[in-house]
Amino acid sequence: MRIIHATDYDDMSKRAASYILERFKDIHTIGLATGGTPKGLYEQLIPFLQKQDLTNMHTVNLDEYVGLAPEHPNSYRQVMNKLLFNEVDIPLANTHLPNGVASDLEEECKRYEALIHFLGVDLQILGIGENGHIGFNEPGVDKNSKTHIVKLTEETREANSRYFKQREDVPTHAITMGIQTILASKEIVLLASGEHKAQAIYDMVHLEPNPTCPASFLKHHKNVTIIVDTKASVKL
Ligand code: GLP
Repeated sequence: MRIIHATDYDDMSKRAASYILERFKDIHTIGLATGGTPKGLYEQLIPFLQKQDLTNMHTVNLDEYVGLAPEHPNSYRQVMNKLLFNEVDIPLANTHLPNGVASDLEEECKRYEALIHFLGVDLQILGIGENGHIGFNEPGVDKNSKTHIVKLTEETREANSRYFKQREDVPTHAITMGIQTILASKEIVLLASGEHKAQAIYDMVHLEPNPTCPASFLKHHKNVTIIVDTKASVKL
């Protein structure tokens, strides 16, 4: 695991953007994350992406809430449209997320997993949950997991409730890439900012790979870079 230290959120976002732009010509499929963490990175990338021909580029997102239709304002599809896809000239058909309202969710997981393997992810962007989750792989997850349905922990629902009108509106389940799905990408870049992420960052870096901190499984990958600001790295 390589660690790049940034001073604050803004610096983390800029460093992440330069890191990705240096490799941009080799990225055909990029794995994207939602949450507040990569927002600044996307803002940094937009002016560059607006000048690129993105006709052949594909994106795959880590996860989607079960029960929220793609049109729902809190669906990760809408979040990504707002944060990035509507701002750049990428064919929407090339931007992939799991369908949280598929009639057969197990089949949807298989379809999404197969699509990811067909496209092959060149670089996967990750955030991290306060409990060490990546995507929606919560503590206890199987290290061999592929795309699957998860029951969200109350901690994660609470953390994500800030985006919803009321806490009860936060879905109880999600579809997420599994640990193996994430580890299959050629390169991984994980971003973290703020003191509330410091314990998760410590556990990820210092613990042996184990399910109590899903991000610790990233140690099984040869090409992981973490970009952390001063507050998130305070315990390292
Ligand atoms: C959600 C997402 C994760 C994200 C995490 C942290 O649970 N599924 O992909 O990393 O939140 O979010 P934030 O970046 O807002 O702290």
